[in-house]
Amino acid sequence: MKALLVVLIAISLFSCSPGSSNEALLKNQIDSLQTKLSESYKPELGELMTNIQAHHAKLWYAGQYQNWKLADYEIKELQEIVENIKKYNSDRNEVKLIGMVQGPLTQVSNSIQNRNSKQFEDNFTTLTKTCNACHLATKYEFNVVKIPEGQMFSNQDFKPSN
Ligand code: HEC
Repeated sequence: MKALLVVLIAISLFSCSPGSSNEALLKNQIDSLQTKLSESYKPELGELMTNIQAHHAKLWYAGQYQNWKLADYEIKELQEIVENIKKYNSDRNEVKLIGMVQGPLTQVSNSIQNRNSKQFEDNFTTLTKTCNACHLATKYEFNVVKIPEGQMFSNQDFKPSN
C-alpha cells in the first residue's frame, strides 16, 4: 500500500514537473494579460485637464454662494484628479511640474475650512495663475484659464441647500 502511494506521488510529481507544455501555458497567460493591459482604459492628460477645468469652475461657483460644503467637495475632486495625473500620465514630461499646484490647492482648501470668502477669492486667483504658469512652462500657454464668468453648469444648483 505504502509502495503504491510512493509510486502515485512520483507519477503526479513527474507529470507536474516543468515541461514545455507548462511553459507554453504560462506564456499564453502572460500574453493574454499583456493584451488586456494594453487595451485597458488610461485617461489622457488633456482629458484629465478638461476634468480639472470643470471642477475649477464649480469650485468658484460654490465659493461665490459660500456653499462651503460643496466647495470642500470640489477641492477634493481637484486633488483627486491631480493624483490621477501623477498616476496615469507619468510618461508625459510635463507632469514633472504638476507639483506646483499643490501649495495653491492647500491654500484654497484652508480658506474653505475658514469659511472666508475674501481669502477664498485671493487663493483661487493664485491657483488660477499657477494653472497658467504651468501651461506657459510646458508650452501650452495658449490654454488660458481664467476666473469663470456667468454660469457654465445651469443644470446644477450651487446655492447651499440648508
Ligand atoms: C503640469 C503643469 C500643469 C498644471 C499645474 C496645470 N496644467 Fe492644464 N495643461 C497642462 C498640459 C501639459 C496641458 C496639455 C495636455 C494635452 O492636451 O496633452 C494642459 C491642458 C489644459 C487644458 C486644455 C484641455 C483641453 O484639451 O481642452 C485646460 C482647460 C487646463 N489645462 C486647465 C488647467 C487648470 C484649470 C489648471 C489649474 C487648476 C491646470 N490646467 C493646471 C499642464 C498643466
